[in-house]
Amino acid sequence: MALQAALSLPSAISIHKGGKSNISLKDSDLFGASISNLLKNEIKCPLIRSQEVGKRKLLVGTIRSQTATTTPAIDQATPEAKKTLRKGTVIITGASSGLGLATAKALAETGKWHVIMACRNFLKAERAAKSVGITKENYSVMHLDLASLDSVRQFVDNLRGLAMPIDVLVCNAAVYQPTAKEPSFSAEGFELSVGTNHLGHFLLARLLLDNIKQSDYPFKRLIIVGSITGNTNTLAGNVPPKANLGDLRGLAGGLNGINSSPMIDGGDFDGAKAYKDSKVCNMLTMQEFHRRYHEETGITFASLYPGCIATTGLFREHIPLFRLLFPPFQKYITKGYVSEEEAGKRLAQVVSDPSLTKSGVYWSWNKNSSSFENQLSKEASDREKARKLWEISEKLVGLA
Ligand SMILES: NC(=O)c1ccc[n+]([C@@H]2O[C@H](COP(=O)([O-])OP(=O)(O)OC[C@H]3O[C@@H](n4cnc5c(N)ncnc54)[C@H](OP(=O)(O)O)[C@@H]3O)[C@@H](O)[C@H]2O)c1
Repeated sequence: MALQAALSLPSAISIHKGGKSNISLKDSDLFGASISNLLKNEIKCPLIRSQEVGKRKLLVGTIRSQTATTTPAIDQATPEAKKTLRKGTVIITGASSGLGLATAKALAETGKWHVIMACRNFLKAERAAKSVGITKENYSVMHLDLASLDSVRQFVDNLRGLAMPIDVLVCNAAVYQPTAKEPSFSAEGFELSVGTNHLGHFLLARLLLDNIKQSDYPFKRLIIVGSITGNTNTLAGNVPPKANLGDLRGLAGGLNGINSSPMIDGGDFDGAKAYKDSKVCNMLTMQEFHRRYHEETGITFASLYPGCIATTGLFREHIPLFRLLFPPFQKYITKGYVSEEEAGKRLAQVVSDPSLTKSGVYWSWNKNSSSFENQLSKEASDREKARKLWEISEKLVGLA
């Protein structure tokens, strides 16, 4: 099943570690055409460029030598001048739709940020950026499939190859499989929701920590998107199945559904619970990062609940009736609904608002759309669980 997952989530382009010209291309059918043929003439840079091929405009990864044209303008003068003159660089995972896209738009249109849209589908991301009017000089698309740890490492290698500063990382992407009867698995064989939402982001954030640490930008931040659904101190968090990591025995066993349960707590598979559990992991991870690295690095670590964005693709696997009724229910009954645009502004605020510098915080917004520091549930703020989660996750992603 792991192999099946790997095949169904192809890394269209893989550039091997350290080998600048060692490019292995899997001829993916993502774009209905052979990518390797398209790349014969222009193999330049891992940022995504668009080029005309026949009548179709195809987006391909190109390997370009290190030039200022692919990076935000970097001033070489004094550190003070750098702070005021160059754009910030923010990586947003899963920026091809929903919250990630709205945040990319909100940041890009300030003209102060270059957004790296870290996405698993080039074409979708490129089209999405265009559809919301993000201008070319304010974004790049780079391939990242969080359901493959190889892809995460590849992404980090590609990024380092560009030698560009990384100021903010937003771990936003997520999968939610509420109607799945059987678990599906990441390339390495982890249950897909936790494998993608937690383990993929855990590895990414750990690998990029040093890059963010070196940033001289006024804001250096690492943000992991959380959710009310993982917090059992709320009404929404009490809708069954509730998040519960238990003693992490399933995670420690590898979440592979063969020698161990695919669920973190060791129980039977439940797709909705797996998502909620992954969100608890996201919020615990943010706090553990804060405890371990805030003082040493000066990085602000934060999480947030942006509100219920009932229209996003997150609910794509839900039954049609749910998808029909959920937005009006959230708008008129719970009144917890926020538009994608508003949610994007909220996350953009956590990225760039000079007043949101406090680290280790889980942000929420009140009815007037003012941010406030929210309380996490007992489990989502359990220090001992956070430490244990960190240690097990390190082993699973090959960092320990
Ligand atoms: N919607 C809500 O009400 C709500 C509430 C609280 C928190 N959140 C959080 O907000 C974040 C964004 O969710 P959303 O509502 O905006 O959902 P969405 O529109 O479905 O966006 C999810 C994004 O994640 C990407 N993604 C999924 N699997 C990936 C993988 N293996 N590798 C790379 N990217 C992958 C998707 O890519 P594709 O476009 O290729 O599918 C998409 O861009 C999530 O962390 C979610 O937990 C959402």
